[in-house]
Amino acid sequence: MMLHIPEILTKDEVADIRQQLQSAEWADGRETVGEQGAKVKRNQQLPELSSAGRIMGNRILRLLVKHPLFLSAAIPYRYVPPLFNRYEGGEHYGFHVDGSIRTIPGTSLSLRTDLSCTLFLTEPDEYDGGELIVSDTYGEHEVKLPAGDLILYPSSSLHKVEPVTRGARICSFFWVQSMVADDSKRTMLYELDQNIQTLRLQIGDTPELVGLTGHYHNLLRQWAQL
Ligand code: NI
Repeated sequence: MMLHIPEILTKDEVADIRQQLQSAEWADGRETVGEQGAKVKRNQQLPELSSAGRIMGNRILRLLVKHPLFLSAAIPYRYVPPLFNRYEGGEHYGFHVDGSIRTIPGTSLSLRTDLSCTLFLTEPDEYDGGELIVSDTYGEHEVKLPAGDLILYPSSSLHKVEPVTRGARICSFFWVQSMVADDSKRTMLYELDQNIQTLRLQIGDTPELVGLTGHYHNLLRQWAQL
């Protein structure tokens, strides 16, 4: 499932993070990928252990872990802390699939990448190109979101970033290991949860709704891996 989650960050939070990024030191994005990725990746990134990057990444994580829609869709278990990238002057990232296992920088912990997330930090009219293209069995999906919005998609998807031909595209990106590895099961849980939430607002906690909530948790209990 691909999901657009609006307004993870307010415009003020975006402006503040952008301000901090101006004085940060960018490095070649090829430092964080494997052999196939390095052949097609042309962009800049904050180094994984950059202190500014870690502070801003943790700030984003603190907002994510209390965001109801994100939690419902991702059912997160572990995160690779958010990193930051910049594309300008024709930079791009050709078709690739994100590596399946990543080590959390500065630790010996590894996680399985179930979900890839991109959080946009520049407005669509600040740059030309730079669309994130995600290819799945339904075709190719083009994503270019307002600053502060996030796209979440299965890490198993083939994807690319089109060349940025004017201005700069700045994003934060990270991976999530979900408690539910299987995308179709996670999608069913998300849809069930969203319908339960909507019904709760409409009719309150009727016995049937309590039963459905129990059903959600019993499915999650069967499918979750901790
Ligand atoms: Ni990628």
